[in-house]
Amino acid sequence: MLARIFSCAVVGLEGVVIEVEVDYTNGLPGMTIVGLPDAAVQESRERVQTAVKNAGLHFPRHRIVVNLAPASVRKEGPSYDLPIALGVIVLAGFLPPDKVENTIVIGELSLDGVVRHARGVLPMATTARANGFKRMFVPEVDAPEAALMPDLEIFPVKTLADLFDHLSGRRLIDPYIASTDSLEPLFTPTDFSELKGQEHVKRALEVATAGGHNVLMVGSPGAGKTLLARALPGILPVMSLEESLDVTRIYSVADQLPAGTPLIRHHPFRSPHHTISHAGLVGGGNIPKPGEISLAHRGVLFLDEFPEFGTRVLEVMRQPMEDKVVTISRAKGS
Ligand SMILES: Nc1ncnc2c1ncn2[C@@H]1O[C@H](COP(=O)(O)OP(=O)(O)O)[C@@H](O)[C@H]1O
Ligand SMILES: [Mg+2]
Repeated sequence: MLARIFSCAVVGLEGVVIEVEVDYTNGLPGMTIVGLPDAAVQESRERVQTAVKNAGLHFPRHRIVVNLAPASVRKEGPSYDLPIALGVIVLAGFLPPDKVENTIVIGELSLDGVVRHARGVLPMATTARANGFKRMFVPEVDAPEAALMPDLEIFPVKTLADLFDHLSGRRLIDPYIASTDSLEPLFTPTDFSELKGQEHVKRALEVATAGGHNVLMVGSPGAGKTLLARALPGILPVMSLEESLDVTRIYSVADQLPAGTPLIRHHPFRSPHHTISHAGLVGGGNIPKPGEISLAHRGVLFLDEFPEFGTRVLEVMRQPMEDKVVTISRAKGS
C-alpha cells in the first residue's frame, strides 16, 4: 500500500501542487527521498523519524522511499517535513488514507514534533484553492496568512501529535477564522501636507503618481528630494483587496511578511542602499527569489543618491522599466 499526501512548492511567485508518495522498498530500515530534493529536503529524513517517534508513534522498521512529484520541479526548504511524516503515519496504518484526501499539508518539523513557519503560504493557498482542494493544514503562525484565501478551510497545526489527534478524531483542531479587525492602519512616515512650497515638484509627483511614470529629481543637497520622495506613498490611492493580495504574495515568497501582518494594506516603499547588487535589485539566486523591484510592486522604488549606484545595477533597471515586468531565468526555472 502506498500513502499519498498533497503539499505545495513555490516556483517564482506561483505555487505548484506537489504529490508526496510514501511506500516501502527493500533494504535496511531507513528512508530515501527522491524527486529533485535539495539539501534541506534531504535532512527531512532525520527530522521526520525523530518527530514521528516523539509524537508517540512507532516508526516502521522498514526501508521507506519518499517520492516528491512532479520530479521536474526543484523541491527546496524544510516545508515537506509534515507531509512526509503524515505519509509515514498513513503508510504504517495509524490513519486511514481517506482522512487526507482533498487536503494540502505544509510545515517544517522540529525534533520534538513542533510545526514551524513555512515560506510562501499565501501563494500556496491560492494554488490549493485553484486546484479544488478543500482543506489546508499549515503551521499555526501562518494560519492568518493562509486564511486570506476564501473558500478554503485552514487548520493551524501546533505539533505533529495534534495533527494526528485531529485526523484520528481524538481531539479536533478548530479551523482558523480570519478576523477582520486585524487590518493594520495605513501608515506613511511623511505626509504630503508637511511639505512647504515646492509646488512644481509636488505637481510633477502627482502627475507621475496618476500616470504611473518614473521621476528623476535633481537638486542641491538639502533641497528636499529625499523628503519629497518619502512622502509619495501618501498620495497613492488606497489599495484594493486584489492589489493587497498581489503585494502580500510577493512578500510571502520573499519571506519578508512582518510578523502579525497577514495582509499588506499599504503601498510598499523600498529604498535600497546604493551598494545593492544587481541580483538584489532585480531578484535572482539559484532558485529565483524576488528582488527590490518586485518588492516595490504597486508601490514606490526609491533610489536615493542615484549616481552612486553601480553602472551594472542601473543597466539592469532598463528592461523592467520598459516592460514593467521582471523575468529571471535559471536552469531550475523562471
Ligand atoms: N519643502 C520642504 N518642506 C519641509 N521640509 C523640507 C522641505 N525641503 C527640505 N526640508 C527639510 O530639509 C532637510 C533636508 O531635506 P532632504 O530631503 O534630505 O534634502 P535632499 O535629499 O534634497 O538633500 C530635511 O530635514 C527636510 O525635512
Ligand atoms: Mg537626500
